[in-house]
Amino acid sequence: MKNFTLAALVLSFLFCCKETPKKTEENKPQSVLEHVVAQHEVLFKKALPHIATPKLMPKSITDDKLRLVDIYEWTSGFYPSSLWYIYGISKDEKWKERAIRYTEKLDTIQYWEGNHDVGFMIGCSYGNGLKYMKSKSYEKVIVQTAKSLSARFRPKAGVLQSWEANKRWQCPVIIDNMMNLELLFEATKISGDSTFYDIAVTHANTTMKNHFRADNSSFHVLDYDKETGEVLQRNTAQGYADASAWSRGQSWGLYGYTVMFRETGNKIYLEQAQKIADFIMNHPNLPDDKIPYWDYDAPITPDTKRDASAAAIAASALYELSTFSTDTKKAAYQSLADKMLATLSSDNYLAEVGTNEGLLLKHSVGSIPHNSEIDVPLNYADYYFIEALMRKENMGK
Ligand code: GLY
Repeated sequence: MKNFTLAALVLSFLFCCKETPKKTEENKPQSVLEHVVAQHEVLFKKALPHIATPKLMPKSITDDKLRLVDIYEWTSGFYPSSLWYIYGISKDEKWKERAIRYTEKLDTIQYWEGNHDVGFMIGCSYGNGLKYMKSKSYEKVIVQTAKSLSARFRPKAGVLQSWEANKRWQCPVIIDNMMNLELLFEATKISGDSTFYDIAVTHANTTMKNHFRADNSSFHVLDYDKETGEVLQRNTAQGYADASAWSRGQSWGLYGYTVMFRETGNKIYLEQAQKIADFIMNHPNLPDDKIPYWDYDAPITPDTKRDASAAAIAASALYELSTFSTDTKKAAYQSLADKMLATLSSDNYLAEVGTNEGLLLKHSVGSIPHNSEIDVPLNYADYYFIEALMRKENMGK
């Protein structure tokens, strides 16, 4: 979620986009970014009948129909944030109006203290909005959301609690939580209040100490004693096994520590991000087309599902990480991200315009252990795919 030179992006998109050409329904070759914008028009029209209802954010497909989710569902920010990117690509004011309309539907989330995912919900939607227009009211939303998120900070354990306590866990923290820290950094920049920055650093440090294994893969869920900081359990919720490397979790960690380095300049985070990147890049179970199976330790059979979302998130993170890396690492990270994007942009993964209920990518996985969202499109796969395409374009300048 870095700033972009919009004019350069648009020019490159319109005139010199070098990605694999796709075909429209009229059989006209077009760039992947043009394809993305055209497919978003389809999605916007599919979602339009629901625009005024609380269940308004397109997420996936169920029973061959577009599935929309309530604003309190963790993925509610990805559609508005994608709309901001589509505006950034196309420069067409209609997309800005659409992005504003959907972003502001999330207004009440800024006060929600019930879950850590407000970083995704508000950081991506209002946060991207701030990249494309100045708005004091959007800044206020970011700061208020940071306050709500900070209410989940458990100082004695040094973590932001992810989910509410339940029968199994008293203070669960998931690796995905690294993705909420960017919002805290943004809130400190806006408000000058370093409390948010300090919480982000403390959480990242505790996670670095406790979540990672010797091979640099991470556990999914850690349960903490809130009073002593003792790690009570190391488990999974969405992975193959407690001891396995759930693929999307590895991508969240990679992205999160890359952001940590960008925001603090502290080399320990760069090294952590590089270790995660190397784990992914060198994993013997990463297929030649570079789209991970849903878990790096899942037994591989002809039916083992891939997770396009894990690839899209990783590709976006790898492009940014490559800009902080030198020599062979820089080239290796760019090359892996390029291969991921090339596969995601192929007909196997990128839906033809007008199909897939307007969603971009096929073949993501929500949660196999919960038998939920298996081999479907997911709005966050689309969001990070667009971001990765934009980062690639921007790096070419
Ligand atoms: N943060 C939830 C997920 O990645 O599925």
